[in-house]
Amino acid sequence: MTALPSDMLVIEISRPGGPEVLQPTRRPLPALSDGEVLIAVEAAGVNRPDALQRQGGYPPPPGASDIPGLEVAGRVAAIGAGVRQLAVGDRVTALVAGGGYAEYCMAPAGSCLPWPEGYDAVRAAALPETFFTVWSNVFDRARLQAGESFLVHGGTSGIGTTAIQLARAFGARVFATAGSAEKCAACRQLGAEVAVNYREEDFVTVLKAATGGRGVDVILDMVGGDYVDRNYELAAVDGRIVQIAFLGGAKATANFGRLMQKRLVHTGSTLRPREAAFKAAIAASLHDKVWPLLSAGSVAPVIDRVLPLDRAAEAHAALETDHIGKIVLVPGGA
Ligand SMILES: NC(=O)c1ccc[n+]([C@@H]2O[C@H](COP(=O)([O-])OP(=O)(O)OC[C@H]3O[C@@H](n4cnc5c(N)ncnc54)[C@H](OP(=O)(O)O)[C@@H]3O)[C@@H](O)[C@H]2O)c1
Repeated sequence: MTALPSDMLVIEISRPGGPEVLQPTRRPLPALSDGEVLIAVEAAGVNRPDALQRQGGYPPPPGASDIPGLEVAGRVAAIGAGVRQLAVGDRVTALVAGGGYAEYCMAPAGSCLPWPEGYDAVRAAALPETFFTVWSNVFDRARLQAGESFLVHGGTSGIGTTAIQLARAFGARVFATAGSAEKCAACRQLGAEVAVNYREEDFVTVLKAATGGRGVDVILDMVGGDYVDRNYELAAVDGRIVQIAFLGGAKATANFGRLMQKRLVHTGSTLRPREAAFKAAIAASLHDKVWPLLSAGSVAPVIDRVLPLDRAAEAHAALETDHIGKIVLVPGGA
């Protein structure tokens, strides 16, 4: 085994602000804890929560690194006490509560998964955050079933591109919303039957018509604001609406009569602060049910672009302006 260096390149948030506050610097390697592994990072995924953290609105949970980055892929460089299922040298992709924008990152062993067959580090690093989130919210919380209809708002986000493919792969009729004709075309290419450009059309009207007036069984929403009431209007009887963010605002006025009349369930969750055992259970379900689809190529991450780790600021600027799918950072250069 190669000796570990004493310090590493990381991207830190120098102060709350725009993409330019992401600064390369050097820090000591994180200390290894029981039940965790140290990963030599070959690629790190970029996600919207990283941008919220950078702006100062999404602090890391207690005990998590202040370095941004919620998913990494690489080789196990060291293992903590009590880790039996992994060995030094294993290639893993991991969901982490922070610390991904770095050359080395700690991960709970239970949040690590092997690379799907034929994958490289970039594609493997693009998986955990969106696949854990979509699995947990769409299939566990909202219990989407084959034959039901499903709508994801923000269809070309990292979350959206994953949700469209998984819902389709598990037999749902899939609908999406997105903010341009190009993004709608990308949603359809991924498996959405109808993609609504919300800047030009009312998604409630379009999707009520697409479902013969019945409405949509499960809605995954990251927008909130006035979408809350519109989701209630669109939902089918016994529909489930899962809130994973409020990009359009966390306060809303809604006709709650619809909630009662249609027996809707409106729920939500945040993955990052959940305990290691909860994440390990999702990892096990993904390994069992989704990793075979990734290895077979019937579901795949959509990579928008790959950038060197020290250009994380550029990655965030792209995240906040225009992208389709995932942006991935690579230590040592893309
Ligand atoms: N709760 C959880 O556990 C959890 C976990 C992971 C992610 N998330 C959240 O899920 C969301 C998606 O994450 P991501 O990394 O996939 O994001 P992303 O790739 O950055 O995409 C965000 C998308 O949201 C749309 N959007 C942005 N601002 C909007 C607004 N004001 N109104 C409507 N749409 C807007 C944009 O698409 P258009 O151009 O089409 O509008 C963009 O494609 C984020 O809000 C993130 O915080 C939550």
